[in-house]
Amino acid sequence: MLKIKQSSFVKSIVSIDHRPQPPLPEFAFAGRSNVGKSSLINCLVNRKNFARVSKQPGKTRTINYFIINDQFYLVDLPGYGFARVSRTEKMKWKTMIEEYLLESDRLRMLYLLIDAAVGPQPNDLQLIEWVLYHQLPFFIIATKADKIKGNTRVKLKQQLAEIIGKEVGDILLFFSAKNRLGRTELLSHIGKQLAKPA
Ligand code: GTP
Ligand code: MG
Repeated sequence: MLKIKQSSFVKSIVSIDHRPQPPLPEFAFAGRSNVGKSSLINCLVNRKNFARVSKQPGKTRTINYFIINDQFYLVDLPGYGFARVSRTEKMKWKTMIEEYLLESDRLRMLYLLIDAAVGPQPNDLQLIEWVLYHQLPFFIIATKADKIKGNTRVKLKQQLAEIIGKEVGDILLFFSAKNRLGRTELLSHIGKQLAKPA
């Protein structure tokens, strides 16, 4: 089991040219604004205000790097889909994320976060399709699982299977930063990716 022994914020970047040194495996988190990316990172590292959490959506506008155990980076990507953001801002987001995802040879796993209570939205589907097209390594995390019941889980699984075109049982994890559901599984998933040869 992967143990988090050390965690610290490294830097925020807006262009891949400014990625931190040394190059280490990266685990990135993408999802709609407010889906719970920063909360998930806080929960993983057991720290309250590590990755910032805001009630005001659309706050994370940079790519934020955190280093863990001097061994790998957790990468908090800016949230998409926040309505009160200008077209120009949205385009900037898209360019920044796409550049990161396409040029990051260090990306070990892209965690796609979907709000379990809200269900997949059109912009979630767009990102999933884009990720499939570019054959990036991805894994889906259904967040805020504390808010939903069993039948919503089943429905979400079916919706995702339809989008992806296969059963999602082994690429889907239900997670809650509130009651820490799925935390151990996510840590062990990261640990497994690290153990694989690059
Ligand atoms: P941006 O930085 O705007 O992209 O948002 P984010 O994806 O980082 O979301 P954030 O972690 O800031 O969480 C957004 C809101 O959802 C906060 O009010 C959190 O308290 C709440 N939240 C996050 N995770 C959970 C969870 O597991 N359960 C519940 N019930 N609420 C959660
Ligand atoms: Mg955030």
